[in-house]
Amino acid sequence: MSDQNFPTGTLMAGKRGLIMGVANKNSIAWAIARQLAAQGAELAFTYQGDKLLRRVAPLAESVGSDTLCDCDVTSDDQMDATFNTLKDKWGKIDFLVHAIAFAGKDQLAGSFIENTTRDGFKSALDISAYSFVDAGRRASEIMNNGGAMVTLTYLGSERVVPNYNVMGVAKAALEASTRYMAADLGPRGIRVNAISAGPIKTLAAAGIGSGRHMFRFNKAAAAMQDHTDPMGVAGAALYLLSDLGLSCTGETHHVDGGFHAIAMPQETPLRESLEG
Ligand SMILES: NC(=O)c1ccc[n+]([C@@H]2O[C@H](COP(=O)([O-])OP(=O)(O)OC[C@H]3O[C@@H](n4cnc5c(N)ncnc54)[C@H](O)[C@@H]3O)[C@@H](O)[C@H]2O)c1
Repeated sequence: MSDQNFPTGTLMAGKRGLIMGVANKNSIAWAIARQLAAQGAELAFTYQGDKLLRRVAPLAESVGSDTLCDCDVTSDDQMDATFNTLKDKWGKIDFLVHAIAFAGKDQLAGSFIENTTRDGFKSALDISAYSFVDAGRRASEIMNNGGAMVTLTYLGSERVVPNYNVMGVAKAALEASTRYMAADLGPRGIRVNAISAGPIKTLAAAGIGSGRHMFRFNKAAAAMQDHTDPMGVAGAALYLLSDLGLSCTGETHHVDGGFHAIAMPQETPLRESLEG
């Protein structure tokens, strides 16, 4: 992440919401949390198990949050407890950030058709796509009119990316879910959008085979010939979650340095990146 400060202001003043998916300071959800806090939002966080609490608690504290919920999204009990905590503490919320995905390492390498198992498929779709539907429904039950939700997706849903495999299928389901959720919740004034981020070095990205090649290729082939900056993703989340995003819903917004727009990259940077 660039070491610029996140722009401060009052775009999120008076708004409260839940951030799901911070594992450490490199998490995309953490960049989003920092940006929302810098604009006055009050935040609650989920974390996945005690091991991550040690990392997430100090981060939450640094943005003035003391609401942390242990929440594995495959547990109905923990999901119930999380949203009950928010209801008891705040009554209503204004936004939800969903930045959660998982597939076993064995599912994220080699041949998609050979290596995708029934259990691997189910678990990837459950954790990476259904959890947004589930969290979105629960959030909407306690959401103010004018509320907004954002999830994180990746271009591997639209086009083939080597080794991304079942996660690409899960992201396609996540993006379709975003549109159906937007239609259901639109009449209540709740907006639902997805951000399709370019590759960013996080724990989740480390699980994907040939990660080094992916980062170099993306940098060389992107319109901006640079890596995706988490600050740009956080800025997009701020737009979509604040009143700036009024009337925008059901959208998958790319923040990837323009990688998605390029059919054929310029020869020189690409050759240098592949040879370098
Ligand atoms: N890093 C990238 O290059 C990139 C690009 C586009 C989209 N994304 C997406 O961004 C989101 C955030 O990932 P990240 O890259 O910041 O990595 P990350 O590892 O920091 O975050 C992933 C989070 O998912 C959580 N998680 C996984 N299984 C869970 C479960 N069963 N219950 C609760 N939480 C669970 C982890 O605890 C972690 O906090 C993911 O949806 C990812 O697919 C990442």
